[in-house]
Amino acid sequence: MDVEVVGRALSTLPEDDDHPYRTGPWRPQTTEWRADDLEVVEGEIPADLDGVYLRNTENPVHPAIRLYHPFDGDGMIHVVGFRDGKAFYRNRFVRTDGFLAEQEAGESLWAGIADRPALSKRQDGWGARTRMKDAASTDIVVHNGAALPSFWQCGDLYKLDPLTLDTIGKATWGGGFPSDWGVSAHTKTDDHTGELMFFSYATEAPYLRYGVVDDKDALAHFVDVPLPGPRLPHDMAFTENYAIFNDFPLFWEPELLAQGKYASRFHPDMPSRFGVMPRRGDSSQIRWFEADPTYVLHFANAYEDGDEIVIDGFFQGCPEPPDPRGEGVYQRMFRFLALERMQTHLHRWRLNLATGQVKEERLSERYTEFGMINPGHGGRPYRYTYAATQRPGWFLFDGIVRHDLHTGTEERYALDEGVYGSETAMAPRVGSTGEDDGYLITLTTDMNTDRSECLVFDAARLTDGPVARLRLPERISSGTHSTWAPGSALRGWRDGDAAEAAGTIGL
Ligand SMILES: [Fe+2]
Repeated sequence: MDVEVVGRALSTLPEDDDHPYRTGPWRPQTTEWRADDLEVVEGEIPADLDGVYLRNTENPVHPAIRLYHPFDGDGMIHVVGFRDGKAFYRNRFVRTDGFLAEQEAGESLWAGIADRPALSKRQDGWGARTRMKDAASTDIVVHNGAALPSFWQCGDLYKLDPLTLDTIGKATWGGGFPSDWGVSAHTKTDDHTGELMFFSYATEAPYLRYGVVDDKDALAHFVDVPLPGPRLPHDMAFTENYAIFNDFPLFWEPELLAQGKYASRFHPDMPSRFGVMPRRGDSSQIRWFEADPTYVLHFANAYEDGDEIVIDGFFQGCPEPPDPRGEGVYQRMFRFLALERMQTHLHRWRLNLATGQVKEERLSERYTEFGMINPGHGGRPYRYTYAATQRPGWFLFDGIVRHDLHTGTEERYALDEGVYGSETAMAPRVGSTGEDDGYLITLTTDMNTDRSECLVFDAARLTDGPVARLRLPERISSGTHSTWAPGSALRGWRDGDAAEAAGTIGL
């Protein structure tokens, strides 16, 4: 392994930090690494695995103004690239405006999600609730050759070179980027059209907006999606012809909002609603469907089946788990991070465009979330979802589940005790001939060895265990979302010169 340190961030966190999500598997990194020719600990890197796995993690570097929530940390992207049977690794902080300002100030300037925006030291900021730091720390996709990390409370989309992870600028979309509201995490890319779909939300009417960016990186479509009030959409779905929005009955309490307080509450007496709109349609064409009350963080996929729109996602049986009074503020905060407390099950909604009816069914009895699919099947019929199981009570992934939606069966690979994975992406094999003809990739945080590894599985044989284990230079923090981009989607990939590639992204 050829390793060098390429950067270090200033950290003012105390040496004896005891925050449960800044220690242990969530211990933040401050060092940025370049490592080539990664050491293969076990197995062999498949020669037909070609492209990059990207993962976003939260890495706080300053004590919070008051309360730290794990989703407040600064976005650090990790990349493992596979080419010709070898692998490289990089990790870099996203150079957001907020990260740079706090590096210069040497302290937190914005209050996190668990605090009131009024506590922020700066008057400006980002996010649906305003005066927040856009940490670009939630999701990541690759579109038009650039890696685009995003933030769940809405913010800018920073453009990163997917090979070097250098922050090159912000998405402008030909001047069409909606800077007033920003863009939410969970932008959607359609491999078949080269489009990126996105949504933005805010506490002012119309509360939700939706847009399409074309394969030339221009904003091609942008419309209002009026909702009855401020909502907290975290994800959207799409099919070949439709964009699907949600209006779930979990949202910031309107009376408290008026006082500048942001407290979400679930309303079990209100239905969930799905809005179906042609991908280039407008609000006059939205059809709304009512379903059982729930909240959904993530959808696995959606597709058309005759008159029906089929949507698969993770239904929460208990979107607002009981308040564990007396157990402290952190336990109250973290109950919203525990799958078994929210009771998240893979679920299917069928919306009938001809009759207006909705049918629902539970697809799995297991608590899973963070379902990934073969990216070529996004918005199209599909069979497999690769999801995560969680260590009870913690935002830590302790296993991978392969759901077979045709047979209704599933199999699980359990990580060793004390080893936590990341959101597991599916990478189709070069020359792939079937939906599960490819690899599953995840990064581990191993508390037994104080190391991290990249694990590669045969997607069709998950329970056989990894076909390759690669060692990373440092133990990484746990985090949230990931993606896969094939080498064919990366400019300069075959030149083998990442620096040159950075100049060809077309920013
Ligand atoms: Fe998410």
